[in-house]
Parts: sequence; C-alpha cells; structure tokens
Amino acid sequence: MPLDDARPRAIAGNRLTAHTGSLYPIIQAPMTWIARAPLVSAVSAAGGFGLLENSSRDLTITRREFAAIKAATNQPFGVNLPVRFLKVDEGEESAIIDWLLEAGVHFVTTSAGDPTRYARRLKDAGVIVYHAVPTLKGAMKAIDAGCDGLIVEGYESAGIRGEDEVHSMVLLQAVREKIDAPIVAAGGIVDGRGMAAAFALGAEGVAMGTRFVSSLESPVHQNYKDAIVAAGPSGTILTPRPPRAFGRSLRSPHTEELRATGSDRGPISNVIDSLYVGGDVVNSSGAAGESAGLIHEVKTVGDIVEGTMRGFWLEIDRLAALR
Ligand SMILES: Cc1cc2nc3c(=O)[nH]c(=O)nc-3n(C[C@H](O)[C@H](O)[C@H](O)COP(=O)(O)O)c2cc1C
Repeated sequence: MPLDDARPRAIAGNRLTAHTGSLYPIIQAPMTWIARAPLVSAVSAAGGFGLLENSSRDLTITRREFAAIKAATNQPFGVNLPVRFLKVDEGEESAIIDWLLEAGVHFVTTSAGDPTRYARRLKDAGVIVYHAVPTLKGAMKAIDAGCDGLIVEGYESAGIRGEDEVHSMVLLQAVREKIDAPIVAAGGIVDGRGMAAAFALGAEGVAMGTRFVSSLESPVHQNYKDAIVAAGPSGTILTPRPPRAFGRSLRSPHTEELRATGSDRGPISNVIDSLYVGGDVVNSSGAAGESAGLIHEVKTVGDIVEGTMRGFWLEIDRLAALR
C-alpha cells in the first residue's frame, strides 16, 4: 500500500497488519448496529481496520452493509461472528459461513462463545481468524482451536463481562507469557499512549470500541456521544446480564438502579430505539468502557486513527530517550 507522506509511519514487521492488510494495527471493535458501513468504511479508509458487526442474525443486513463498505472504500476490512448469537439454527449458521467464503472475506473475528465450531472451516478456506477472549483460559482454548490471533479484552472493556475476569494490565501479560500468537489489546485504549502501553504488555495491535462510538462518523445519537465525553474515569458501572454476566455501561441513575435491583437492561433492540436513535441517556443503558474517562471530545475517525499512531510514536520516542 502506498504510504502517504503526511500520514504517520506504519509499524514494520507487525503480524497483525500482515494479517489484516491495513496500514495500522488499529481495529474498530464490532458493535451491534453501530459497526456498520459508515463507521467501518471510515476506519478502514483512515488506515485502521474496520470490523462489520453481524449480531442481527439477518444476512440481508450483513450483505447490504458489506456492499456499502466496498462501495465506500477499497481498503481492507473484516467481519465479526458473534458465535453464541449465531446458534439460532444450523441453517442460518451455515448460510453466514457460506456467504463469508463466497464474498471473499479474508479476516474474521469470532466472539461471545467457542470458536472451535467455526475456526476449522474458516481456516481450511484460508480465512484468518482471531478470537476475542476475556481470560487466559479462553486464550489457550482459542489457540488450541486453531485461531491465528487473539483479541484480548480486559475487564475495563465495554460490553458483556464475566465474573472471573481481570483488567488488561494483568491479562495481557498473562496471555503473552503463555502464547506467541499476535495479541490485539481491547479495553481502556483511546490514543497512542494507551497503544504504546498495550504494546509494552505484549500486544501487537489495539481494538477500540468506546472511542469509535464517540466519533463523528458513528451513527449513534449525539446525546450518547456527549455522555461518553462527559463521563469521568469512574463513569461506568457493571449491571447484571443474567444468568451470570454483567454489562459495562455509562453510570446513570437508571444503571445504578439496574445494579441495585439486579435487573437486566432488556433487549438490545430497546437500547437501539431509545438511546442510539432516540438519544435518551436518562432512561437507557449505553455500553461504554472505563476508557470513556479518557475521551474528552468527539473526533473524526481520521483524527482518532492518525492521532493514535502519532501519539504511539511520541510515546515510543519518549521511552527510548530514557536510556
Ligand atoms: C456500544 C458498544 C457495543 C458493543 N457491542 C459489542 C458486540 O456487539 N459484540 C462484541 O463482541 N463486542 C461488543 N462491544 C465490546 C467491544 O468489542 C470491545 O471489546 C470494547 O469496546 C473494548 O473496550 P473499549 O470500549 O474501552 O475500547 C461493544 C462495545 C461498545 C462500546
């Protein structure tokens, strides 16, 4: 890929970008309804790697968004398969895999479940597969299943979290100690300082969710973006996601009440209608990571991607100067 002189330097010998084909090892996390054509194409066009979410169980939507991304950018992007949500029936499962292979998707992330079910078939067809894991045990299982790399999600991440998870500071090192495959750090990263820290802990790439939700190109209501910008480092809370999980969301009287009463936030379709589209930050539960406390303004995707790379190199130079 030609390197525009005005752009920050890429990283030599990086295994993640060798797999993705993107200029920078910066992935936009898959997020239901949010990670569709406008956001994915903007991230990939900026030199990052957009991931098309696929939680709707509706192949028509996936095909439509895939075509829209292709029309918007010639840069590479990938697709996420949320394993648990695909288990509706066997027919739907194989339809999505058949389509992925026909469409020539070269990079897939699997999440929310056991990758074994899909990894072999995808890998036999030459697709690169990274699995999202929140624990060392999950990481070892994913590598045993044949995955090429890992998205390692620390406890500070937005989204669904289990009871026995740990934060990135420990998790990344624990995974790196045992596993040599490429690691993408997810959770708590919004800029180059966080990216450099993740690299020091063993990562070769980063994935950002909350930072991209609060980008200009993100399709969610401005109130949700503003609430992320307004949140401090303690601005998120874990609310119950029965039977055994939790969801990390923006702290509000509503989410405090969900936690106090042990109540579920309800189906994502309600959150999409009330918050993503309606902008009701008072009576709904918007997913956000602890990283919200590090986000101080809505920025364009281009500024986020290039700013992260610039910041990364500044940190690397600053640390090298300590010698
Ligand atoms: C609004 C929102 C929705 C999310 N939805 C999903 C999802 O559908 N599937 C998934 O695997 N992860 C989802 N995540 C979690 C991200 O994949 C990622 O692990 C997380 O955002 C990383 O932490 P960060 O937000 O601090 O960057 C979501 C995150 C956010 C902020």
